[in-house]
Amino acid sequence: MLLIKNIRQLVQVREEAIDMVKGADMAHLPVLENAWLLIENDTIANYGTMDSCPELSCETLDATGRLVLPAWCDSHTHLVYAGNRHSEYVDRISGLTYEEIARRGGGILNSAQKLNETAEEDLFEQAAHRLDQVIRMGTGAIEIKSGYGLTLEGELKMLRVIKRLSEEFPVPVKATFLGAHAFPAVYKTNQQEYIDILIREMIPAVAANGLADYIDVFCESGYFSVEQSVQIMKAGIAHGLTPKIHVNQFTAIGGIRAAVACDALSVDHLELITEDDIQALHGSRTMPVALPGCSFFISIPYTPGRQIISAGLPLALATDYNPGTAPSGNMNFAVGAACAKMKLLPAEAINAATINAAYAMGLSATHGTIARGKKANLMVTVPLPSYVAIPYEFANNPVQTIILNGKVYA
Ligand code: NIG
Ligand code: FE
Repeated sequence: MLLIKNIRQLVQVREEAIDMVKGADMAHLPVLENAWLLIENDTIANYGTMDSCPELSCETLDATGRLVLPAWCDSHTHLVYAGNRHSEYVDRISGLTYEEIARRGGGILNSAQKLNETAEEDLFEQAAHRLDQVIRMGTGAIEIKSGYGLTLEGELKMLRVIKRLSEEFPVPVKATFLGAHAFPAVYKTNQQEYIDILIREMIPAVAANGLADYIDVFCESGYFSVEQSVQIMKAGIAHGLTPKIHVNQFTAIGGIRAAVACDALSVDHLELITEDDIQALHGSRTMPVALPGCSFFISIPYTPGRQIISAGLPLALATDYNPGTAPSGNMNFAVGAACAKMKLLPAEAINAATINAAYAMGLSATHGTIARGKKANLMVTVPLPSYVAIPYEFANNPVQTIILNGKVYA
């Protein structure tokens, strides 16, 4: 048992079970001032205000002046990758765009070449280092995609690394098969052949080995068309994989409506969004996910989060941690950038990075809020006056102690 006492603010306390918050409700973030929280085994057992704090002879943590929140849920990352893309970074600073670099054979194909040249053990070590870093910055549940293999062998290697991360780290890890991330150069003029390989070989092999929860596609001009994306999502569904999709990053080509029709769990990026996209999301179970780190890093528009929330929809935040468009897995930055650049209120951004992000990775029954019976994956902050300080001190690390499965991780 672990008793945390004298908590200045216990943030995101939910008495009723919720799976997400949307629209105007996103501005509501329930807080208990001057609180205690009791952990039994790996679970939140109880909480209350200090006037009712139980007298227990168990391990205690004095959180005077500090806040306790559910750990961040990062529902969209590509943190298994080999090496870096420093030279493209410098090229972009010098004036090339992300699309120009990709057309020259850089971008995703550059990372795919590196990945296929890297031994599985080395890949694991690189990814394990990144996962440890993001946990120390408050992430307590994570989704990780494949998509830098683009061959059966390479994709399976990535997914095995993701599986091993889930076994060796005390955080839930959801795995997504993103073989449809880009067309390998050899299939440039015969795209259908790669689609056939994805559908006939890769998806069945991934599913048969139990290596993925989700199927993803980069639905974008120059990558996978809406029609191709639908074929791939449907093939994934047929093998028990739920769709999550990269869509509307550079162009709006109708992928959101198509993904909603496939009952996608989330639609991610949405730097561009049309009225029809908003209409398509209405009444659906699909979570829109914004990735402000990507907008920051490659200088593209920020997802119009205000417009999405004002339309009565929910919104989640994730880092997109990847070597090309967002080489940082810091959820605190995602929350800070969402407030400063997308004009989300601090309460909205914290809801987006906890309960809504948990929803976007199928974990809202167990993660993303402070509730009795939920997993004790929590962060205890450094001394802070209130939760507003988290986005306000935008690139600082507010986390002092991270608790995973009821145990202090760091
Ligand atoms: O989410 N947009 C597609 N995929 C990644 C970028 C991948 C890369 O450049 O390596 C993203 O931004
Ligand atoms: Fe991504």
